[in-house]
Amino acid sequence: MYPNIRKVLVNIPRALKDPRRAASLAWRRMFPFGIKPRDPEAYRIGSWSFGAAPRVDLRDIFPGIESADIKVFRSYDRKRDLSLDAQEVLAICAIASHVKAQSMIEVGTSDGNTTLNLVANGADNARMTTLDLPEDWSGGFEIHVPEMMNNITDRARVGIQYRTSPYAGQVTQVFGDSAKLDYAKLASPFDLAFIDGCHFYDYVKVDTANCLAHMKPGGVLIWHDYGMIEDVSRAVDEWSQATGIPISIVAGTRLAIARVPEAGAKLS
Ligand SMILES: C[S@@+](CC[C@H](N)C(=O)[O-])C[C@H]1O[C@@H](n2cnc3c(N)ncnc32)[C@H](O)[C@@H]1O
Repeated sequence: MYPNIRKVLVNIPRALKDPRRAASLAWRRMFPFGIKPRDPEAYRIGSWSFGAAPRVDLRDIFPGIESADIKVFRSYDRKRDLSLDAQEVLAICAIASHVKAQSMIEVGTSDGNTTLNLVANGADNARMTTLDLPEDWSGGFEIHVPEMMNNITDRARVGIQYRTSPYAGQVTQVFGDSAKLDYAKLASPFDLAFIDGCHFYDYVKVDTANCLAHMKPGGVLIWHDYGMIEDVSRAVDEWSQATGIPISIVAGTRLAIARVPEAGAKLS
């Protein structure tokens, strides 16, 4: 039976015993935001409505992940809407730990909080390659980017969080435009790729194609900002349709996940 209907039926006898409390709960479920906004977080997450991919519990995407033990460094040293939120850090660290990622790539370093947390939670002695525009970047892009989609972070702060951590020696910082770099020169193949550079549609497409071409079979592709940014959501949905590789969005996050098919696997 449809799980929500079952839940309602099971709760009817309890609701009949306490109708006032039941009505109040049901009303809040139907109108979760109330008349006046009380918590901006609810609106922030409620607005992640772009894209068509299903929201799936992380435990259903990666069975067994519930027992992953993770370490989180500089847990709240992240800028809202530029980097990951707490729920997303928990999920991405658990994924790196669960798949025992050995070689990872991140497109878009920013201050390196996710770089640090990924490398800390991968396999022992995991290696991480992280890309960002050069420190003396002159303002040009390989692909024309509308002004509104320009998300360049403070050049002086690129990678600052991992550089001062015990994991600095496991990270290779690469500077360049992600659409121009020669990925064949990087430490591929990768078993985890985190795509979070320029969010303009054409860049997401190019970054995705470049990462996919250098992944291990069975590797994990992760995109940030699915649902929140239309360009990202559209590029990822179209990529999934074109390749036949299914994507799932980790419920409660903006993380889109795909598994690279094992060698010889047949796609739809
Ligand atoms: C959203 S931030 C990355 C956040 C980071 N991944 C994290 O989780 O904290 C995007 C980063 O991509 C970089 N970036 C933007 N366009 C780029 C391009 N064309 N090539 C390489 N990096 C780019 C920006 O400078 C910025 O640091």
